[in-house]
Amino acid sequence: NDDKLEYIKSKIGTFPDFPKKGIVFRDIFSALRDPTACKYLKEVLVQLVKEKCPNAEIIVGLESRGFLFNFMVATELGIGCAPVRKKGKLPGDLISVEYVLEYGKDIFEMQANAIKPGQKVIIVDDLLATGGSLKAAIELVRKAGGNVIGSFVVLELEDLHGRDKLDCDVYSLIKY
Ligand code: PRP
Ligand code: HPA
Repeated sequence: NDDKLEYIKSKIGTFPDFPKKGIVFRDIFSALRDPTACKYLKEVLVQLVKEKCPNAEIIVGLESRGFLFNFMVATELGIGCAPVRKKGKLPGDLISVEYVLEYGKDIFEMQANAIKPGQKVIIVDDLLATGGSLKAAIELVRKAGGNVIGSFVVLELEDLHGRDKLDCDVYSLIKY
């Protein structure tokens, strides 16, 4: 597994000063161009989720890069998935929360009936930076009545201490 993670990490792109001066942007899409990195990433992520949260009942992904992983993991676990989206994209009754991210501010929404009360929920995203997005997603899931049993990210930018904001178990595959 360490070899697989090393391989994936070697394929992650690094872009200084994107999208703003001072931000070192870690680009997961650089790795996803590589078929072996795709295969390894699927294997290690699915294995980690099965190990840490085998009793998960639904997996929530964060727009947009979280969607690369929530449907994939859901099919592997035999559970369903649901989106957290930026405002204005989802139909029906919604719940919403404002959040702050490393380079901006926005509103996240979820469909009010996406999660059943008491359901065991895991959340997935590509990357943990300041933790603002994941914190807001956790808040949304709880507002919907869900029980967040764990959060998973592929990349964690440890210098930004995002996990300190999060009051649930957080698992990351690759750290910077
Ligand atoms: C990025 C990334 C995470 C979030 C991390 O998404 O995919 O969701 O920021 O930052 P934070 O920990 O500081 O909140 P972005 O909002 O850029 O959206 P995208 O996935 O649609 O590109
Ligand atoms: N890479 C990708 N997405 C991000 C980053 C980053 O470094 N920081 C916040 N969102």
